[in-house]
Amino acid sequence: MSDAVLGQFKQPEKEKVISSEGRKFRVGIIGTGWIAESHIESYMNQPDVEIVAAADLIPGKARAKLDHYGLTNVRCYNSHKELIDNEELDGVSVCTYNRQHKDPTIYALERNIHVLLEKPFTVTLDEAVEICRAEKKSKAFVSLGFQPRFDENMKMIKKIVESGALGEVYYIQTGGGRRRGIPGSTFIEDKTGGIGALGDIGCYSLDMVLNAVGYPKPLTVSGYTSNFFGTNPLYSIPDQDHTAEENAARFNVDDFAAAFIRLEGGIILDFRISWAMHLDTPGDTVILGKKAALRIPSTECWNGTVGGEMTLYTDTAGLRTETKIPILKASKPLFEMKIRSFLDAVKEGKPAPVPSSQILYNQAIIDGIMKSAEAGKEIEIQIPEI
Ligand SMILES: NC(=O)c1ccc[n+]([C@@H]2O[C@H](COP(=O)([O-])OP(=O)(O)OC[C@H]3O[C@@H](n4cnc5c(N)ncnc54)[C@H](O)[C@@H]3O)[C@@H](O)[C@H]2O)c1
Repeated sequence: MSDAVLGQFKQPEKEKVISSEGRKFRVGIIGTGWIAESHIESYMNQPDVEIVAAADLIPGKARAKLDHYGLTNVRCYNSHKELIDNEELDGVSVCTYNRQHKDPTIYALERNIHVLLEKPFTVTLDEAVEICRAEKKSKAFVSLGFQPRFDENMKMIKKIVESGALGEVYYIQTGGGRRRGIPGSTFIEDKTGGIGALGDIGCYSLDMVLNAVGYPKPLTVSGYTSNFFGTNPLYSIPDQDHTAEENAARFNVDDFAAAFIRLEGGIILDFRISWAMHLDTPGDTVILGKKAALRIPSTECWNGTVGGEMTLYTDTAGLRTETKIPILKASKPLFEMKIRSFLDAVKEGKPAPVPSSQILYNQAIIDGIMKSAEAGKEIEIQIPEI
């Protein structure tokens, strides 16, 4: 991928740099549900970080979570505003459900506080655009919580594409699926999750290939969504607050999505994702280039990982050849690398490790799939100026 293509995402370095000497990096946790646990544990493993406060809308929830980790002196609040207004912070982890990604992120950026925002970026493209505009005015950045980016196998996919081994890429098939894998909790209602499988795990599939080919701009999309499984008590699962029947009754997001997307540069992207279906996987990811093609095996329960050794198919001296690319092991847990990369970028005044300028296109595709599914026809993807 040419420097010109990648260069469009190069961010200007931000002014606000935290000195690595003297005091610790002061972080706040916004939303203390399930994923906040991984943030708290990863921050606690960093010697140069102090968790100074946490907030949750549910009274007592933040306190209970912090106490569980022995963080009994860390202050607790009942909203992101209270936390940000009352604390001196260098950064926040926004670990709220999708419908509450935008407000805490913008509130922090407006006060020049760096944000590590959980995936997916937002629910709608408009919300993502609002965040990007707030970031543009801020001295701080927002980095998106896509930990598969730090997986050596994901990096290898990008390296293979960038090496030119595939030649010009013209078609990509991606997505992943679960035969049974519908979450419960806040993921399955529009008022909290906003989007279902499409946002939850679809954003990872899109990032895997879009990042590899340099995030070309999406142009048009013909999308489809359905929810035949989540709404059926036979397939929905209970969680700690609801029976399977209750979860089926409140399920009002997608559990399956498919789309045909045209990207700038003439690349076709064929995408499908599922939380549940009568199939183990909707297929491997394949990247077809004019010189070679890459097959990336899917996983049984898709969560953004490479499912086995990849295969590079090409012709060598007139012979059809296949090269196996072995699975590479990570040196550290991916989540810890995601947290560390955020801290290092802030401390060293570097750009966001997973920048909003890239994930805006990821969100534009998700938004386009929802709009096209609603309209029942192909639509143009319009991305406003930031
Ligand atoms: N990176 C990953 O591997 C990964 C894994 C799971 C979830 N996630 C993402 O993390 C986010 C949260 O998921 P979860 O499973 O922890 O959800 P959750 O529902 O368990 O927790 C979210 C919490 O945020 C609180 N909250 C909402 N708005 C708030 C606000 N304005 N101020 C303070 N608290 C607020 C809620 O009360 C709730 O306790 C989702 O966007 C999800 O997609 C990422």
